[in-house]
Amino acid sequence: MSTATQAAAQSYQPADVLNAELMGHETTMHGYFDYMREHNPVAWVEHPDYNPFWSLTKYDDIKFVGSNNDRFLSAPRTVLIPIEFEEMLLEKFGTRNGLETLIHMDRPKHLKLRKVTREWFLPRSIQKLDAEVKSLCKEYVDKMEAMGGECDFVKDITLLYPLRIIMSILGLPRESEGTMLKLTQEIFGGQDPDLARDPTLEQVNAETILEFGAYFDEVIKDRKQNPQDDLATVLANAEVDGKPMEPLDQMSYFIIAASAGHDTTSAVLGAGMKALLDHPEQMEKWRNNPELDDTAAKELMRWVSPVRHMVRTSTEEIELGGKQIKPGDNIALWFPAANRDPAQFGNPNELDITRDPKLHLAFGYGSHMCLGQHLATLEVARFYRELLSRLDHIEMAGDPTWIHAIFVGGLKSMPVKYKFK
Ligand code: HEM
Repeated sequence: MSTATQAAAQSYQPADVLNAELMGHETTMHGYFDYMREHNPVAWVEHPDYNPFWSLTKYDDIKFVGSNNDRFLSAPRTVLIPIEFEEMLLEKFGTRNGLETLIHMDRPKHLKLRKVTREWFLPRSIQKLDAEVKSLCKEYVDKMEAMGGECDFVKDITLLYPLRIIMSILGLPRESEGTMLKLTQEIFGGQDPDLARDPTLEQVNAETILEFGAYFDEVIKDRKQNPQDDLATVLANAEVDGKPMEPLDQMSYFIIAASAGHDTTSAVLGAGMKALLDHPEQMEKWRNNPELDDTAAKELMRWVSPVRHMVRTSTEEIELGGKQIKPGDNIALWFPAANRDPAQFGNPNELDITRDPKLHLAFGYGSHMCLGQHLATLEVARFYRELLSRLDHIEMAGDPTWIHAIFVGGLKSMPVKYKFK
């Protein structure tokens, strides 16, 4: 059943958006979004475990709020976290988010800190990584071939390759990959019983953040003494307003650079393969048309939209979709909902690798728009070129499972059978 038909058959409550299982799975998530976009696109959400917020599901509304960052702030509430956990983070770290990364701050500090790495992420800098990205694609596609015709596409391949790329950019050794993967999954998999460190709320994330902190402390010390040509050296020695970056800012910068960059890209590669298996004619078209690599990668971004939401806080009284938003109100922007809005995309629930790639909001919009977008797009484009040109055939060999998540979602596993040429 298409998500649109399902939406018509089922009704939802606004607070269902906080159900991590429902939001984790692509079909139920889009069923919910299609319903809300049609019936309640600017919805007030109340839930006993969360502070209330407005929930936006239309492309234009999300783009409007995202692009006016001076009127709709990223601080103090950046993502949806249960009240109990927010209070615990506030007590332990002095902020409701537990971290103070780029995504959590506003002008003028945000601009100053974004400038520290902006150069590193520009298309011309990312282009210099092309040879390395291609060689890592080959390494992981070789691995898949060596596995002899069956693997878990997510656990064995797509979880690992973007991690290797980000570790390489940061200049961190392969031995640390296991630690980094575990820590990131715990931060983003906070609501999934299989991935979170401890099912009790007190334990989840606070320990993870401290462990990340201890790891990067060592890296910072090392790069101050032995500067190298890597992102870790840029961050370790960065100055803001002529002074060394504050320790919490620096730590948070490392954490966002290491974590935002791979779980999200892994999700697009993994769920992207599911999308291609569900649309075999698109896979065939992509295989035969290398000139579509970039647009196809962007269509997979639109399709998967692994970052489900970000939150903004209104500084003003404003009417949106007939609802009165007050200063101090929180507003959640649901990017996957924007990316399937039929007012913006013809046949939004059809994968079309020739679609105009500029329009999707998977990377957000406005001054916080993803710093790593050019790298992520290159990673996806190069990986699928390597894989599709060598594959003869691929099919699903079992049911895929989805991460329970309202923040960063994607596949947890997907068994596949395949044959190389
Ligand atoms: C498919 C992959 C990716 C997706 C879907 C994605 C999505 C996003 C989104 C939606 C935001 C906006 C947050 C907001 O509006 O508040 C963001 C910000 C950010 N992303 Fe990505 N991202 C991806 C890959 C990457 C990579 C590869 C890196 C770095 C290596 C990265 C680093 C960042 C950073 C540093 C920010 C904060 C920018 C700021 O607040 O100024 N991301 N990303």
